Parts: sequence; C-alpha cells; structure tokens
Amino acid sequence: MSSDAKEAVAAITAAKNPRELEQLRVRYLGRNGSVTRELRRVGDLPPDKRAAAGAAANQIRKQVESALTQAEKKLQQQQYEGETASITLDVTAPVDTPDAFGHAHPVMSLIDDVVRIFWQMGFSVIDGPEIETEWYNFEALNIPADHPARDMQDTFYLEGGNLPRTHTSNLQVRYMEKHQPPIRIVTPGKVYRNEDEDQRHSWQFYQLEGLVVDKGITLADLKGTLLAMMKGLLGEDTQIKLLPNYFPYTEPSVELHATCVICGGKGCKMCSHTGWLELGGAGMVHPQVLRNGGIDPEVYSGFAFGFGPERIAAIKHGVPDVREFWRPNLNFLEQFE
Ligand code: PHE
Repeated sequence: MSSDAKEAVAAITAAKNPRELEQLRVRYLGRNGSVTRELRRVGDLPPDKRAAAGAAANQIRKQVESALTQAEKKLQQQQYEGETASITLDVTAPVDTPDAFGHAHPVMSLIDDVVRIFWQMGFSVIDGPEIETEWYNFEALNIPADHPARDMQDTFYLEGGNLPRTHTSNLQVRYMEKHQPPIRIVTPGKVYRNEDEDQRHSWQFYQLEGLVVDKGITLADLKGTLLAMMKGLLGEDTQIKLLPNYFPYTEPSVELHATCVICGGKGCKMCSHTGWLELGGAGMVHPQVLRNGGIDPEVYSGFAFGFGPERIAAIKHGVPDVREFWRPNLNFLEQFE
C-alpha cells in the first residue's frame, strides 16, 4: 500500500461517527478529493506512463473505498449496539404513574350494577334505537295520537314524523315482534323529553326497562323481581311497595316505591319524611300490547317496568340535583372514584 493509501485508510478507520466518515469520503473521493484528482491527472501524463499510473491510482481508490465501506459497517454496528443496550428491559424500574386515572361515571356504574343483577337472574341485555317511530313509542303501546296519556311525556318531534324516544318502552313491541316467549330482557338507554329542567328533571336522561313474557307470569313475579333488584342496588334491608298507577300499556299499572336509603324508612328530607321513595313505573303487559307484538294474550302474560338510573344514583349518593351528573365538572365527578 502506498503511503498515501495508508494514511487515508488509517484516517477512515479512526472515524468516530458517520459525519466524520462522510467528510473523509469527500476529502478522498469527492469531486475535488485527492484520489479523484490523482486519477484525473493520469490523463495528462505521456501515453507510455498512463497505464502504470492509472493502475496505481485505481488501486488507491479501491483501498479507500473498501476502507470506507468497512468503517461504515462498523459504525452502524456500534450504533445498533448502543441503541439496543439502552432499551434493555428493567423489570424493577419504578412505574411512571399518570397523575389521574379515569373511572366509571356514577350513572354508568349504577346501570352496570342493575344489569349485573338481572344478568344473574337470567335476563338478556338489549339495545334499541333512540330515534323511533310514533308506532313503537306510542301507538303500539296503546297510546293513540288523541290519547291524553301522550301528555304524560312531552315529546320532541323530528321532521318526517319520527321522534327521539320518550321512554325505553319502545323496545317492548319491537322485541316481541322478533322473539317468542319466554322473554326476559332489560334495556338501558337514553330517552328525551321536551321538559323544563329542574333538580329532578332533564330533557335527556337514562332509563332502564325490563320485560318478561311467559306462561303464567303474575304480579307476584313482578314484585319479587323488583324486590330482588332493589335489595341488590340499595341493600338487603330495602323493602318495596307497589301503589296503583296508570299507564296505557300495562294493566294493572303500579308505581314502585322503596324504603328510603338515607333514613332507612324513618323519614328524612330526601323522602319528604314519608320513609319511601318513588322510583319507577311498572305493571302487567296489556293484552293489546302483547297482541301488537304478535303474542297471544290467551296463552302468555308478562310484566314490564321502567325507572331512571340518574334518580337512583342521586338518591344513593345524596346528590341534590340530577343535572350535576352531566355537567363537565371534574371536581363533582371525582367524588365517585
Ligand atoms: N315508560 C314508563 C315511563 O317512562 C315506565 C314504565 C315502563 C311503566 C314499563 C310501565 C311499564 O315512565
């Protein structure tokens, strides 16, 4: 190896990073690099000297090129080793914990609790449409257009005649049409009413509906089911009572009351000193509703119930205003962690 080549190879081998290596490549092999210049000069030599000088210059070029390739490989290998060494997994390293964890929303976690209770009793959990026809929301449930019961639920109407459902009872006939008894379902979901807001009402809220249809279902089954649900939700000491009420789609219709969770039935502000809280509506499915769903009321009977999870969550947690649940107020929501 010529002394020029030796010097170049030594410099290249000593390069510490790709940038230095690139500078050396330019110095020797660039357009004005020393090796390139040497090669160019061969053309100026007298013809009889060209072959030997050309061969020598080419030899140097090859040596420099191969030194560059090797040095590049070596640097890449070093870089790879450096990188992989730094990602070695230390399973004893402390975990980087985020400042805040999310948690279930209090209303959602109440719905989860209810769903779990019913799931354990063999119910299926069903989802339904929030935009509904008048038929499923009203007519199929015995509420014709001129029926005063339409006033029980102030309705938002959409262009074209559909509506955001006013209750989860829209699922009753929808489900019966597609399923023969035995039917045992619960359906949680959002409902909408054209109502003025106050501490106990909102224009949009959740409901949870239950429907059971089978041979020989009686009011006693309804009462037993509601009692099991309320004990599961509010505690084993909870008692319930059913008071007469009216819904066009159940006969008889009842109002569900449970002993107040706050005072245990002794009477307090939450229960207006009655010891009882009104928590939902229920009843035996009206024969015409069964017929609308394609089920023979001479053979089958059933019960249905519906209640508002916000109200129960509010009672359970002592929240005076249900609207709080949906305000973007983390200070409030973080209490339920
Ligand atoms: N749909 C009724 C309401 O929104 C509740 C209900 C459901 C009543 C099922 C009877 C049977 O108030």
